[in-house]
Amino acid sequence: MTLTQYKKAIEQSNIVSKTDIDGIITFVNDEFCNIFEYSKEELIGKNHNIVRHPDVPKELFKILWDTIKQKKTYKATIKNLTKNGKTVYVNSTVIPIVNSQGAIEEFIAIRYDVTKNITLTKELKRKERELQFLNDTLEKRVEEKTDELKRLNQNLENRVQEEVEKNRTKDRMLYQQSRLAAMGEMISNIAHQWRQPLSELGITIYKMKKLFTSGGDEKDFLYSYDHSREVIKKMSNTIEDFRNFFNPNKVKDYFLIQDAISETINIMEGTIQKYDIHITVHCEEEIKIEGFLSEFTQVLINLINNSKDAFIKNEIKNRCIDIEIFRDEKGNVVLNFSDNACGIDEEIIDKIFDPYFSTKHSSVGTGLGLYMSKMIIKNSLNGDISACNLKDGVTFSIIIPLDNQESKGYT
Ligand SMILES: Nc1ncnc2c1ncn2[C@@H]1O[C@H](COP(=O)(O)OP(=O)(O)OP(=O)(O)O)[C@@H](O)[C@H]1O
Ligand SMILES: [Mg+2]
Repeated sequence: MTLTQYKKAIEQSNIVSKTDIDGIITFVNDEFCNIFEYSKEELIGKNHNIVRHPDVPKELFKILWDTIKQKKTYKATIKNLTKNGKTVYVNSTVIPIVNSQGAIEEFIAIRYDVTKNITLTKELKRKERELQFLNDTLEKRVEEKTDELKRLNQNLENRVQEEVEKNRTKDRMLYQQSRLAAMGEMISNIAHQWRQPLSELGITIYKMKKLFTSGGDEKDFLYSYDHSREVIKKMSNTIEDFRNFFNPNKVKDYFLIQDAISETINIMEGTIQKYDIHITVHCEEEIKIEGFLSEFTQVLINLINNSKDAFIKNEIKNRCIDIEIFRDEKGNVVLNFSDNACGIDEEIIDKIFDPYFSTKHSSVGTGLGLYMSKMIIKNSLNGDISACNLKDGVTFSIIIPLDNQESKGYT
């Protein structure tokens, strides 16, 4: 390769310029003009700093000049400015040319364009920073969202707690309401039960007065006296039954199911007689369960009252209630309460245990009887109550689990 060929090869593949020792441009190749957007005429005779970028610190040029003046080659990537204000990056090599006397004659600079690389690297760095920022903010946002979720969760828990509490209060109110309704029922029952003995007492007292004023037989007088005491005792027993029923002394105890039935029948005697209801009880063994006798009695009263209402509504002539108690094959206590009052419409049978569900006029029913009965059976006895239509009436089945009972064997 001749020197001219060598020069041509360099000039065609690189950006080449020459300056005199003061930095005045003496030569630029076409590539130089292309990249810096100047014509050759605009460049020749100008100081090389025409392409200098204002961002580049002066110290860098000082190093450049110091290096080349020491006849050393300077290499660096330099940021330059084109005529139209575009930034370009060039990898530059500045070589001092020395004459035969050893003095610097001129400088030759060979560069190649690395703008793309630099911009890409810069862009990459920017993206990296952006990514890092996103990452940081993402972590922060995840933390924020987690906190928010935790707060929401806590709020939700609080609200569930509140709702549960509200429900409890509602249940307590329903319970009180139903007890009040039952109390009203009781009072009318007492009134009914007392009507007969009161008139009996009235008659006997009148008899006693007559015996006394007419100087009657002392034996007759004493008989009337004893009879009055008996009647009063019966009346007092009625009160005792009701008092037990409303006894607020809530200590769970074992009681015989049979006792609960007898007490219910006692309390309801007035109603049972008035509406001519025949109750039969089948029970082959004595069964004790743990709970509140008064509550269990209330369930039975609700059932009898419902049957009574259905008897009246459907004008049943031969009114029968059948109560059967037995242990099923698993040892659970089952109480089947059946009447012959035409049963319950299949369309509503699923709703009868809902609170306030009633087919009766509001002056007759509140729709709480069966709801409360279910609550008592579930909450106090851990059992369940269900209804199904049978033949000419309905059967309510109360099932009380084995572990509720004191004696699991037949007694
Ligand atoms: N033995 C029954 N025969 C026919 N229908 C019944 C019987 N027992 C309950 N029902 C139906 O179930 C409904 C709900 O009964 P529940 O005892 O809960 O309320 P209620 O009797 O209407 O009112 P409350 O008992 O509060 O005074 C009744 O309105 C009635 O339609
Ligand atoms: Mg009822």
